[in-house]
Amino acid sequence: MDKTTRSRRAIRLTRKVPSGNLLDGLEQVTTFDRPIRSIAKAVRRKIGPGPLRDTLHGVPIGHPLHPSLATIGIGCWVAAAVLDWTRADGRAARVLLATGIGTALPTAAAGLTDWSTLHREQQRVGFVHALTNATATGLYTASLLLRMAGKERAGRFFSFAGLGAVLGGAYLGGHLAYRQAAGANHAESLSHLVPLGWHDLCALKDLPNGRPVTRRLGYIDLFVLRLGDGVTVLADRCSHLAGPLHQGRLVMEHGEPCVICPWHGSVFRISDGTVAHGPATSRQPAFQTRLRRDGTVQVRPAP
Ligand code: FES
Repeated sequence: MDKTTRSRRAIRLTRKVPSGNLLDGLEQVTTFDRPIRSIAKAVRRKIGPGPLRDTLHGVPIGHPLHPSLATIGIGCWVAAAVLDWTRADGRAARVLLATGIGTALPTAAAGLTDWSTLHREQQRVGFVHALTNATATGLYTASLLLRMAGKERAGRFFSFAGLGAVLGGAYLGGHLAYRQAAGANHAESLSHLVPLGWHDLCALKDLPNGRPVTRRLGYIDLFVLRLGDGVTVLADRCSHLAGPLHQGRLVMEHGEPCVICPWHGSVFRISDGTVAHGPATSRQPAFQTRLRRDGTVQVRPAP
């Protein structure tokens, strides 16, 4: 078999491999990239750095706020669908619809804040996820208004249509969270890749003073900062979306030295890797350090 035939066969074989997921293609659709860029920029500008943005990201609770809020709305709307299906209690169904609609705004605000700092492929899926959920909220609002006007039957119809949109939105949200790892901790596994005990890292004299560098330890890259004779070590891969922390800027936050991730601006305290500001909500794995007599820096995962 000559080289051309071999490469043609390889291309044919490649085309036959199924993607395994309906939404893989959506990640590559560039049609809405321009509005996506503009909206993400507007959200970042509108919800600037500060306590509100940190809260919407979920920094105080240690993981993204959006999925937690979303479960309230979805739970209310699914419960309303059960009541509608069984014709059990029209008033209770209305209360559940209104509660779901009431939670839609904070849920959307938290979701948009997270979405504005995602990778482009994630933003494409997130854009359709947001449109689907906005459609669902519109349908439920129409349903509630119809019921309040005494049109129960039409109200139920709009509710079931809303439920279809909610389920579509949930499927897209699942793809974002589990397939594309938006909102997941991208540094969680790192400290497990380092065996217990102390490990030689490098000679102290080879580290520049006051400038972060990266050093390899087994399978993982570390963020290493020397300040005089002291050395601070964190995992280098940012917990938000795996950005290279050693390329970040050093700042002081409330009197504590911190590093700003170069990709989306998460701020981590250098002393222990905790999050000072989002979008990251998970701390950076930190490492204990000690200096051997011969000037070798040793590290081990902090408990
Ligand atoms: S990768 Fe997004 S803030 Fe670090």
